[in-house]
Amino acid sequence: MALYSEKVMDHFRNPRNVGQIDDADGVGEVGNAKCGDIMRMYLKVDENQVITDVKFNTFGCGSAIATSSMATELIKGKTIQEALELSNKAVVEALDGLPVHKLHCSVLAEQAVRAAVKDYYDRHGIAYDPEDFREMDEDELHEHVGH
Ligand code: FES
Repeated sequence: MALYSEKVMDHFRNPRNVGQIDDADGVGEVGNAKCGDIMRMYLKVDENQVITDVKFNTFGCGSAIATSSMATELIKGKTIQEALELSNKAVVEALDGLPVHKLHCSVLAEQAVRAAVKDYYDRHGIAYDPEDFREMDEDELHEHVGH
């Protein structure tokens, strides 16, 4: 079996929603200290808390690009709450899998979405449970991806 699925290669070669939104309602930037990759996510949100537009910039590996691209596709048109519930596992499944040593890249995509949602809440003075936004440590990461 090829190391990367067709979908991963497709999203890596033709990433969706690349760019930035100048008047974004929420912006999240996260990085992985180990590999040094950085991901920035921009959300445009309407009065019903629906994500009407989303863009990303990723300075990182191919899997980071593919997972952030897929993450934008999965949250576009969804509510902020639904975006918050997006797990890295869902992103990986939507891409038909990732090699185990690349699963952390999908965690970065989940965290970028969460960081953008948090920024949206902060800017709009919306109360939230800080538990929803705590950093995931290595153990949780393993739990998170089911290994
Ligand atoms: Fe760092 Fe992929 S190797 S995000």
